[in-house]
Amino acid sequence: MREKDRFGREISYLRVSVTDRCNFRCFYCRPVRDFTPLPHSEILSYEEILEVVRAGVAAGVKKVRLTGGEPLLRRGIAHLVKEIAAMPEIQDLGLTTNGLLLETMAWPLREAGLTRLNVSLDSLDPAVFQRVTGKDAARQVLAGIEAALSLGFAPVKLNTVAVAGVNDADFGRLARLSMDWPVHVRFIEFMPTAGVTDWASARFLSWERVKEIVERDAGALEQVPESGLFPGPALRYRFPGAKGEVGFITAVTRHFCGECNRMRLTADGKLRPCLLSDREVDVRAGLRAGLGEEAVLAAWKRALELKPQGHALDNPERAPLKRGMSRIGG
Ligand code: GTP
Ligand code: 5AD
Ligand code: SF4
Repeated sequence: MREKDRFGREISYLRVSVTDRCNFRCFYCRPVRDFTPLPHSEILSYEEILEVVRAGVAAGVKKVRLTGGEPLLRRGIAHLVKEIAAMPEIQDLGLTTNGLLLETMAWPLREAGLTRLNVSLDSLDPAVFQRVTGKDAARQVLAGIEAALSLGFAPVKLNTVAVAGVNDADFGRLARLSMDWPVHVRFIEFMPTAGVTDWASARFLSWERVKEIVERDAGALEQVPESGLFPGPALRYRFPGAKGEVGFITAVTRHFCGECNRMRLTADGKLRPCLLSDREVDVRAGLRAGLGEEAVLAAWKRALELKPQGHALDNPERAPLKRGMSRIGG
């Protein structure tokens, strides 16, 4: 069964948030005050997550990404990776992490069959890194990235949320990491998601502005011809002769909703058809009532019907989102 949504988009990419807990406090993501993690009883078990992934596969899913909160905080994550990697229909399995636990976790993940890692890295400057994430951990995250590269994860994609007056002095250095390492350094436009109290137009940098800063500080970029390899939402560039790439995720100014192929599963068992819309469909109740795949597929169908054509971030009248990024998984 290959389901399309109301706008003819085929949904083949499922992003699974395995926990809402996180060991960082990135100001662009996490509601700073009043954050109570979900009680364990509300979090889907691995068996329940696998039931949803299997139903997703029946509905056309070919790509899965594990997210959080911070997915490496959930015990037994390598077990989940192993189970999903063993599904023959899944052609691409990735995980997005903040990298804090990566140095020790890279090997168990690799052994379990993970091939792709995306790591958040907002600055190489320890003080700026701490200002963004609340932890003095730049060195530890870099060690995690190096461990992943040495184990053959390729490409490792690095995510930098671009924020004026916070990390813009570091864009050139971050981009230059792609010279010697097979990494895709991606600058992401700062999105005003739920709980973000610090979003203001003065903080926002469009992808074009970020590219100007990168080229000013680190040299001219050339476009990477689209080859179908490692596809993702980024506009792709590179420095001539570089091992890796520099990308721009234009989440706000040039949204890619027209080609959106995503469904999300939250840690508490809701299918969320759009990152930037609070419409959700519960699957947990059906699973816990023992209704199995049929119930998940019915919820999947309903979620497809609810998937909006696009986001409304440029509409100042839009209602603020309720669920924060750390409870969606980006
Ligand atoms: P791959 O393409 O598999 O490498 O992953 P990805 O780039 O989609 O995943 P990642 O978790 O690294 O996300 C990178 C950035 O893209 C994050 O800031 C996400 O919030 C953003 N993003 C991912 N999916 C969407 C989406 O559907 N809409 C918008 N607006 N942003 C998204
Ligand atoms: N705007 C843009 N990107 C964000 N992320 C988290 N919050 C935001 C936001 N408000 C990104 C992080 C992480 C990815 C999953 O989502 O950089 O790498
Ligand atoms: Fe945690 Fe990731 Fe959110 Fe940062 S972006 S607070 S690392 S979930």
